[in-house]
Amino acid sequence: MRKVVYIIMANILEVKNLSVTYTGVKEVRALRGVNLSVRKGEILGVVGESGSGKSTLAFSIINLLPQGSKKEGEILFKNQNIMSLSENQLEDLRGRQISLVFQYPGATFNPVLSIGYQFHEMLKEKGGIKSRANRRKIIADSFEKVRLSDCQRMINSYPHQLSGGQLQRVSIAMAISRNPDILIADEPTSSLDVTIESQIVNLFKELSDDYNITIIFITHNLDLVRVLCDRAVVLYQGKVREINSSKELFSSPKDSYTVDLIESFKELES
Ligand SMILES: Nc1ncnc2c1ncn2[C@@H]1O[C@H](COP(=O)(O)OP(=O)(O)OP(=O)(O)O)[C@@H](O)[C@H]1O
Ligand SMILES: [Mg+2]
Repeated sequence: MRKVVYIIMANILEVKNLSVTYTGVKEVRALRGVNLSVRKGEILGVVGESGSGKSTLAFSIINLLPQGSKKEGEILFKNQNIMSLSENQLEDLRGRQISLVFQYPGATFNPVLSIGYQFHEMLKEKGGIKSRANRRKIIADSFEKVRLSDCQRMINSYPHQLSGGQLQRVSIAMAISRNPDILIADEPTSSLDVTIESQIVNLFKELSDDYNITIIFITHNLDLVRVLCDRAVVLYQGKVREINSSKELFSSPKDSYTVDLIESFKELES
C-alpha cells in the first residue's frame, strides 16, 4: 500500500448530495444523495455490486449522462460546479482536466481507422493542437508514460492488430495525453486476463506516483482496491454505504454491507 499523508491533501473534487434518475420506459434512481470527496493525488476506489451506480457516478462527473436523465446536487471540481458549465466549457474540461478510461478498450476506438490517425484527430479536434510535430511529440511522450515501447508500430496499427492489454495501454495513453488532473477508470482491467490485469494495475500505480494524477478507480475486484487504492467508496443501490481508507475497509469495515461484500468476494475467489 502506498503511503499518503492525508493532512496536506486538498480536495480536488467534491460530490454533494448527487442524485441521478434515468428517464425512459421506466424511471431508474441510479444515485441517491451521494456525498464524497476526492483528494488531490490519491487513488480512490469505487466498489459495489453490479447496478449499484458506479458507472453512473463516473458519467456524472464527466457530465456524459444520456439526454433526459435528471441530476440534482453539485459536483465541484476545483470549487467550480461542473453541473452548471456550458457545453463548450464541458468540452474543455473533458480530456484536458478530467479523463475517462473504459472497460473495453475496443469501445474507445473506431475499428477501421489506425491508432495513429485516431490519436492525431483527438489531439487536433479536442485538444486544438494544430502542429503535427507537436502532436507527434505528445503521442510519443504518452506512449512512453504507459510503457509502450514500440510507438511506431502502435501508431501504424489498427485496433484489431493489438492485444487487449496493448489496446488498453493505448487508450490510457490517449486519456492522459493532455495531462488531466483526474483520470477516471471504469473497470479498466475486467476485460483482461490476470497477468495483463496486474501489469495495467501497476501502470496506474506508476502514473499516480510519477505524475501525481488523481485516479478514481472503479472495480468489482476488491483485491485491486487492496493493492492499488488509498481510500475506497462502497456503493449500494445508488447510496454511499462507506468511505474508508482501503486498509481499514478490510481490517475494520464500518458498514454491514461492506462486510457482506468482502465475504462474498472471498467466497468467489476461493
Ligand atoms: N442509460 C441508462 N438508462 C436507464 N437505466 C440505466 C442506464 N444506465 C444505467 N442504468 C441503470 O442505473 C443503475 C446503475 O447502473 P450503473 O451502470 O451505474 O451500475 P454499475 O455499478 O456501473 O454496474 P456494473 O458493475 O454492472 O457496471 C442500474 O439499475 C442500471 O440498470
Ligand atoms: Mg458499470
